[in-house]
Amino acid sequence: MTSPNHVDPAGNSHHASEGIANAAERRWAIIVVLIIGSLVAMMVFTGVHWASMPPSRVETVDVKTLHLKGEFVENNLGTMIEKDGRVVVRLIAQQYSFAPQCIVVPAGVSVTFRGTSTDAIHGFVVGRTNANTMLIPGFVSTFTTSFPKTGEQLMPCHEYCGTGHEAMWARVQVIPPDEFFAKAKAAERLSCVQR
Ligand code: CUA
Repeated sequence: MTSPNHVDPAGNSHHASEGIANAAERRWAIIVVLIIGSLVAMMVFTGVHWASMPPSRVETVDVKTLHLKGEFVENNLGTMIEKDGRVVVRLIAQQYSFAPQCIVVPAGVSVTFRGTSTDAIHGFVVGRTNANTMLIPGFVSTFTTSFPKTGEQLMPCHEYCGTGHEAMWARVQVIPPDEFFAKAKAAERLSCVQR
């Protein structure tokens, strides 16, 4: 009884069973740490992913009244300077075009895009920039980016949306900021669509 190596009826010494218990405990501790570690890694990954990819499917909008009222009525589309000074582009995608078909933005200034779709799932990417989102009926996609260089960029639809998909694209004109703000003073909403 005084010896720590007392042999129990099953023939195991106390030391041996203690060793087995410790090993099992250690094994389970490692498994728990791995589970927690992978959950934290998932949180970090989705967080970083969310920050680096423009989010969509956040805000809802009624497709049926899109053309009739609210921020996506036709004369509210295009680029404007909000009261708080933000440059905001509003656009709509529909089979098979964007409205407006030509978007004008200032270079080197934060630009917020707000867009939605009237029919199928569309999307767009602006040239080789990271301006890239899906446009989903019933939801407002929004992201903020800036275009460092002036020039014209193509903005193709990048979600297959039907037979006219490959012909669906718009243009983005990135112009010097002073030129943009001079134009914005003259007109409430800007686009570069030729009328
Ligand atoms: Cu719209 Cu593809």
